[in-house]
Amino acid sequence: MPFGLLFDTEKMIAERVHGMDWNYQQPVKISFGNGKISALKEVIAELGAANGILICSRSFRRSGLADQVIDEADGLLTAVYSDVSPNPEVAEVDACAELMRAKGSKFVVALGGGSVMDLAKAAATIATVDESIRRYHGTGEALPETFLPLIAVPTTSGTGSEVTSVSVLSDHATGKKAPILSPNFFPAYAVVDPELTYTCPPTVTASSGIDVLCQAIEGYWSVNHQPICDALAIQAAKLVFDYLPLAYAEPYNATAREKMAEASVIAGLAFALPKTTSSHAVSYPLTNLYGIPHGEACGLTIDYFAKVNAALEADGRVTAFAKALGFADAVAMADAITHLKQQIGLRTDLADLDLSDSQIDELVQLSHHPNLLNNPVQITDDILYDLFGTLTKKNMYVEQP
Ligand SMILES: NC(=O)c1ccc[n+]([C@@H]2O[C@H](COP(=O)([O-])OP(=O)(O)OC[C@H]3O[C@@H](n4cnc5c(N)ncnc54)[C@H](O)[C@@H]3O)[C@@H](O)[C@H]2O)c1
Ligand SMILES: [Zn+2]
Repeated sequence: MPFGLLFDTEKMIAERVHGMDWNYQQPVKISFGNGKISALKEVIAELGAANGILICSRSFRRSGLADQVIDEADGLLTAVYSDVSPNPEVAEVDACAELMRAKGSKFVVALGGGSVMDLAKAAATIATVDESIRRYHGTGEALPETFLPLIAVPTTSGTGSEVTSVSVLSDHATGKKAPILSPNFFPAYAVVDPELTYTCPPTVTASSGIDVLCQAIEGYWSVNHQPICDALAIQAAKLVFDYLPLAYAEPYNATAREKMAEASVIAGLAFALPKTTSSHAVSYPLTNLYGIPHGEACGLTIDYFAKVNAALEADGRVTAFAKALGFADAVAMADAITHLKQQIGLRTDLADLDLSDSQIDELVQLSHHPNLLNNPVQITDDILYDLFGTLTKKNMYVEQP
């Protein structure tokens, strides 16, 4: 048989041209299950480390959870740092790193939401050098290569920071909130214990839960999408639609909490490589300037961008995603997201802020974050004005001549 019948070379080359290249890597060991926090000592032993620091929010010191974790670590955790703001600050990273140097810390346990985990990631590198994190925040300069191993223990079902190489930090002096990316930031271990999320107040459950959905959707439709992450994104988004309202209404519902914890870590894996897009780009100024919690700020625009991206995209991926979730089309998915936000008490507009035209100009300008370039369609200023006009119930759309 002539080769030509076996291999259609022209077709193969054409497919190669139109095919996609991708790589997948996931270096974090994940241990998932109710009560897993009790096995922390074994996880630490696996790292072969001693003399660690526990980084957590102040509320866990008050609630006794921090003491419980220290007891269970059986002498392996010798310091605690708990000065962590909801949008962690560069000064807090430096203070934590200084404490770690003073105590000779050799590993880090981060017990908290994205804020605690992000601060811990940065401190675990900065503690090994005599520098400030400011040098690397928003400057693009590569971090030093040394870092301490980190065990990430998420207490919200939200950011997925336990499996990503990102740390999002703020600088209150300059008003800057920016992610730092570094392979140093992949935790050595993620211990995902759904029971730790039971104490999340409904507002935190709602905000962090919608972040899971945004990260899954944005990872999927991003320019940098790839098939393994696509599959993870679909699964994570399904779980959010199915279980977030229940986790919000019944904080101690074991199934809902477990499924949201699962959704969170899977969504983390789904966006860790492709990264996020428009809703995350627009969220940063909304959080910085108006204090809207991260997840709520992302969720505010995800339904709008679902419609815009579906209307303008060339390859039908947004619609394909909506269909994979069982919706008729992207508009039906966007409507379901709006309904979900209403169900769980999240804002669906900015009308209460009574923003002036110049405040909207500022939001449009600051929304031009690099994540916007990872959006599947180009987001122009006209689109951003239309978005903020819709959210503020003002007609901001500028007609093109
Ligand atoms: N690194 C990443 O990959 C990544 C991804 C998305 C977002 N982020 C960042 O993460 C931060 C948001 O993280 P988040 O949504 O997890 O919220 P968070 O960590 O800011 O926590 C929100 C509030 O909930 C409290 N809390 C957390 N867990 C609790 C529990 N189990 N019980 C009671 N209270 C609890 C915290 O103390 C805090 O007051 C933002 O700064 C965001 O930019 C990081
Ligand atoms: Zn997010």
